[in-house]
Amino acid sequence: MIRVWDPLVRVFHWGLVAAFAMAYLTAEELDSVHEIAGYAVAGLVAFRLVWGLVGSRYARFAQFLKGPGATLAYLGDMTRGRERRYLGHNPAGAAMIVALMVTLSGTAFTGWLLEDETRLAMLPAGPAIVPAIVAPAWADDDRYGRRDYRERGDDAVEELHEVLANLTLLLVALHVGGVALASVRHRENLVRAMITGQKRAPGPDDIA
Ligand code: HEM
Ligand code: HEM
Repeated sequence: MIRVWDPLVRVFHWGLVAAFAMAYLTAEELDSVHEIAGYAVAGLVAFRLVWGLVGSRYARFAQFLKGPGATLAYLGDMTRGRERRYLGHNPAGAAMIVALMVTLSGTAFTGWLLEDETRLAMLPAGPAIVPAIVAPAWADDDRYGRRDYRERGDDAVEELHEVLANLTLLLVALHVGGVALASVRHRENLVRAMITGQKRAPGPDDIA
């Protein structure tokens, strides 16, 4: 066995799972916990972007990010049941990591926008949709001149926030499916590897 995932990658991963679950489950139930969990997601993603540049070997983006050609070739091999074993992330897993980071950041960012109407009002003017988002925000002021986002369910940003959160959930389901499939194909428990950091040493056909 050799160590592949460094401790920070593992803490990042399971911390992200916990923070996302917490944010998702407390949405519209417990605003303070929801927002803290959402900021934890944002902080973890920000940390991972830095760690992808300076972290240990298998944590680095340069080690596992592949172009569309290599990713499609890997997916093609998967459908034929002859994809190779990667010691680090395989190209499909790597693409999923990018997709998850994008939807997680988008969810946290739109949540941050929603949390304060002055942030919504700072959205740049431009596309026709923007006045539609901002104008009703001010029309709904309460008697202190504040807008309570909780009273408004039709806001485009709120819609976007919800769509991104649900898209993330869908990606997570595919991600867990991919992990299960790769675990079966290569007869190794990838979930345990993400806990212990250890994986079976590469064989001659594996890509280290
Ligand atoms: C909120 C849910 C989840 C998110 C956002 C998520 C996100 C991620 C990310 C970003 C990575 C890359 C890790 C890194 O290099 O830093 C990863 C890898 C991994 N995740 Fe998740 N994950 C989630 C849930 C799960 C669950 C529930 C499992 C297990 C059942 C799981 C198992 C794994 C495994 C095994 C890897 C390593 C894959 C490999 O061997 O290449 N993840 N996940
Ligand atoms: C990435 C983590 C996050 C996830 C998964 C998430 C998920 C959700 C979901 C599913 C909803 C319900 C939308 C609806 O049904 O209308 C929601 C609402 C909301 N979220 Fe988030 N969110 C996240 C981060 C944040 C952050 C960082 C903030 C603010 C700091 C935030 C603020 C809000 C607000 C203000 C609402 C509207 C609540 C309401 O309608 O009462 N969220 N979020």
